[in-house]
Amino acid sequence: MDPRIHDFASLAEIDRFSGLTNPRQLFGLKAVEPLLKRFAASGNYRSAAVEELSIQDDFCRRPLRPEDLDIIDFSRRLKPDDWTLLCGLASNRMLLCVNESARFDKSIRSPGFEDRPETREFYGVENRLIGCMIRPFLETTLFGELEKGGIEHFTDDLHELIDRAQDEIEERASALAEVAQNNDYCRKFRVLQDAGLAATKVHAIRRGRVDDRSSNSETVLPLEAVLEKISALAAERLRTYGLSTNEHTHWQFLLSTSLASANFIYRMAYDPLRWIELEGAAAHFVLESLVDNSLEGSFDREVLDEIRSAGLSAIEACARGDVYFRRRWMHGFALSQTVRRKRDNDLWSQLVWLKDIERYREIALAIDERIRRDRVAIDRETFVEPREMCSTTHVHNDHRLVVIEKGTMIFWAAPEMRLYLNKGEMTLVPRGRLHGSSVESIECIYHQPIIPEGWIAGSMSAFPWSGELPLNGGAE
Ligand SMILES: [Fe+2]
Repeated sequence: MDPRIHDFASLAEIDRFSGLTNPRQLFGLKAVEPLLKRFAASGNYRSAAVEELSIQDDFCRRPLRPEDLDIIDFSRRLKPDDWTLLCGLASNRMLLCVNESARFDKSIRSPGFEDRPETREFYGVENRLIGCMIRPFLETTLFGELEKGGIEHFTDDLHELIDRAQDEIEERASALAEVAQNNDYCRKFRVLQDAGLAATKVHAIRRGRVDDRSSNSETVLPLEAVLEKISALAAERLRTYGLSTNEHTHWQFLLSTSLASANFIYRMAYDPLRWIELEGAAAHFVLESLVDNSLEGSFDREVLDEIRSAGLSAIEACARGDVYFRRRWMHGFALSQTVRRKRDNDLWSQLVWLKDIERYREIALAIDERIRRDRVAIDRETFVEPREMCSTTHVHNDHRLVVIEKGTMIFWAAPEMRLYLNKGEMTLVPRGRLHGSSVESIECIYHQPIIPEGWIAGSMSAFPWSGELPLNGGAE
């Protein structure tokens, strides 16, 4: 491989183009942390009430669990595998709020939208100004490690590149559809992760292409009609599965890695010097949308063929570009492939957990029995909560049992899911799995023993609770 290709693909090279040597040093951690807390203190971002599991007709209302900011360590950049942890989830949620505070299109408006105090706060100077200040920090926290490593497997054969990418997306998407079938929660959750964010990704791509930076280039594909169709197909998929098409009604059930896939497109869209990479990312998004929609089997083949044709045209257009253009285009495309893989692995882990939640309750009983039998001293947190105390969806950085000592808890990890846990009952929440809960009784006392990694592996050796989505080809 030409070593210059590797150099070119490094973050340092991109930063040199962007004029930023290290965005995390713009303000420094001590200065940024109060800004993060001030940003999250907006009323639009307060934790969810029990009736807000789904939030209809309010584009601005996005529960962030601002109380978590007191315990999150923002001192290091995250590897993509760590996007599933609490820092990754909080960073991705905040960053999408920042990115969308400049978004204003017809799809998000409702009568009187502009006059609401919540709308004025969301688009207000303070929210946008602090957003601008924390954006470089959050982006580098999330994407610095991803971009640092460079990209392997560059090829001059662009048709081979797109064929291979399409095969991989199809293989993974088919595996995800298979694990989700016959389970309504899983099917909805899966569709939500891509169709639920299609409109914002389309907006991000349009935003990055709106000025003259690319309009005179023969290498840029006219994507507008295709993006419009992708948005329409995504809305149709949401309706088919009984999910709201109002963004972000199901905000609480968007995985951190799904949010990352939108934020990554915005990252390039907001940087004028990364417009070529945005073109590569946009082509990958078109490819993903083609595969995700074709799996449903109920859509107009002509539309899908049109999207396929657009994806191939993007490759053809890219092939006409010079070496500089092609390398940067491939950089955007290849990074998008990695982001999608991480999303697929995360989604796989969530679906497997959701689908077999009863089995996780059995595993929890076995682990609890071991704690009692062996009288193991184990870290645990205990909570005493009143009726309707509600927990905005979140993740833990460790494996935990949820053990009910008194009262009743409703536990959920997908839209419309309700798992009742009564006195003496329990379940296992593996590290990084998105979940929330509410108290149903007058009071609920429950414990969360923190389970060592080795115990989990031993209890679930034949059970793919987390990690890589198993594929024949080993696509990672
Ligand atoms: Fe929890």
